[in-house]
Amino acid sequence: MQTIKILYQITMTVLMMIGSVNLSNAQVPMLKLNNGLEMPQFGLGTYQMSNEDCKQACLTAFRDGYRHVDCAHAYRNERGLGEAVRESGVPREELWITSKLWPSEYGEGKTLKAIDEMLLRLQMDYIDLLYVHQPIGDYVGAWKDMEKAVAAGKVRTLGISNFDLTDEGFHAIVDSMKIKPAILQIECHPYAQRKDVREKVKPYNIAIECWFPLGHGDKNLLSDTTISKIGSAHGKTVAQTIIRWHIQEGFSVIPGATNPDYIKENISVFDFALSDDEMATMRSLNQEKRLFNMTLEQLENFAKGRTLED
Ligand SMILES: NC(=O)c1ccc[n+]([C@@H]2O[C@H](COP(=O)([O-])OP(=O)(O)OC[C@H]3O[C@@H](n4cnc5c(N)ncnc54)[C@H](OP(=O)(O)O)[C@@H]3O)[C@@H](O)[C@H]2O)c1
Repeated sequence: MQTIKILYQITMTVLMMIGSVNLSNAQVPMLKLNNGLEMPQFGLGTYQMSNEDCKQACLTAFRDGYRHVDCAHAYRNERGLGEAVRESGVPREELWITSKLWPSEYGEGKTLKAIDEMLLRLQMDYIDLLYVHQPIGDYVGAWKDMEKAVAAGKVRTLGISNFDLTDEGFHAIVDSMKIKPAILQIECHPYAQRKDVREKVKPYNIAIECWFPLGHGDKNLLSDTTISKIGSAHGKTVAQTIIRWHIQEGFSVIPGATNPDYIKENISVFDFALSDDEMATMRSLNQEKRLFNMTLEQLENFAKGRTLED
């Protein structure tokens, strides 16, 4: 097994040297964060993938030029991501790796241990971006440990995920903690453009990263005739037009895909641009219609009922 892995890595290195594999990230713009770091604006989402599916999707994505992957302990596929990184031959420093802590891991003292366990699952020395996944439980205690992990060089950037759900949680982190979040991850797509949240984060220079950027495969969104017409004018699909809209809005965007054709299609959006009129038409599709609605109470029950045993 070890011999096969070594042979694979040698083959990848040779292919990279002769240019048969596109491992260049040059086409994906970098987003400058409020902590001074730069993150690839576009990446791969890994929600609802098994370890093996995640590994294969990441390997395909890295070959197609992706350098940013969004993962989470709750997805139970960090091991697959870690294996893909090691087998890809892409230097670790070229990658932007994100993961998220679940509420059962929150608490001063407890979270540092959870971060070490995460690094073990990923088989990495550091994580580029670490989120508190949900605004429930002792996220303030978790954040204190996350700040210690930054000081120890185990994490580079801190983010909040789903903290649009509660003002209390948002302000507890944004106004009171030493390290400010650089990113807020929320559901966002053309049918829910999240105008209020975008205004709320502006004064703090917090970037928005969009989950469900393609509506989680929503049939209505992916067959929207208005978007299809705009895309056709550029020889692009509806999904590509939506991703391009995200990019031009300044969002970080992480479409999930296991289908290799979709993985390739989704990154092929840096060779065209939507005009001002086309952007205005895309904006007019907004209905602030969320596809995944959860009350704080439902979230509390969900978070309590979910244990992550490994
Ligand atoms: N913080 C949070 O609470 C939270 C919540 C949800 C998601 N996320 C993150 O955000 C990422 C993105 O969200 P998501 O994956 O749920 O939804 P999504 O990216 O909006 O959509 C993914 C779905 O669209 C399909 N798809 C991908 N590219 C396509 C294309 N070009 N044409 C047609 N269909 C296409 C995929 O199919 P195949 O799988 O068949 O390829 C998959 O079913 C997640 O993977 C995860 O990393 C975070």
